[in-house]
Amino acid sequence: MNKIPLKEQSIVLIGFMGVGKTTIGQAVAQKLYRDFIDIDEVIERRFQMPPKDIFAKYGEAVFRQHEKEIISEMCHKKLKVISLGGGAFLQKEIQDICLATTTIFFLDLTWDKWKDRIGLLIDSRPVLQGKNMDEIKQLFDDRQPIYEQHHSRVLTDDQEVEEVADYIVDSLKLAWELYA
Ligand code: S3P
Repeated sequence: MNKIPLKEQSIVLIGFMGVGKTTIGQAVAQKLYRDFIDIDEVIERRFQMPPKDIFAKYGEAVFRQHEKEIISEMCHKKLKVISLGGGAFLQKEIQDICLATTTIFFLDLTWDKWKDRIGLLIDSRPVLQGKNMDEIKQLFDDRQPIYEQHHSRVLTDDQEVEEVADYIVDSLKLAWELYA
C-alpha cells in the first residue's frame, strides 16, 4: 500500500464524546475546502436510526463492527476531514489504520469543563445510560489513554470552535511546509 502524501492525508478528529469533534471538524473542513465525514452519521444512515437505538436493538458489538468497517474504508480516502465517535479508538485496528493513513488530532477537554456539558449528552449517548456521575468520571478517565494515539493534541478548554479550527489549520500548514 502506497503511503498517502502528508498534504493529501485525511484529517481525523478523536476525543471523548461531546468534546466538539463534529462542530470543529465541520469548521476545519470548511477552512481547508475539504469534505467533512462524521462516522456516526454514516452509521446512522446505514441503519436508519441513531447510535442509541442501534445499541439497544443490535448491541454494542454490532455498532463497533460497522464503525470499524466504515472507518477502515474512509481513512483511505484523500483530503477529507473525518470525525470519529468517542469509542472508536477502543479498537486497536482502528487506531492502527488511522495512524498509518491519516493525520490525527486529539481534541482534549478537561473533566471540569466536560462535566458541564453532560446535560446536553446524557439522553443521546448510549454509553452514558444508567451510569452515575462517578461511573461517568471513571469512563472518562479510562478512555483517556486510548486518545494518546494521535499526531497532535489540542486543548480545547475555554476555546471557541473557530479558535480551535484555526489552530488545527495553522498547525497543519506548518507541518505541510516543514515535512512535505
Ligand atoms: C460513543 C460515542 C458516540 C457514538 C456512540 C458511542 C462512545 O460518538 O459513536 O454513541 O463509545 O464514546 P460521540 O463521540 O460523537 O458522542
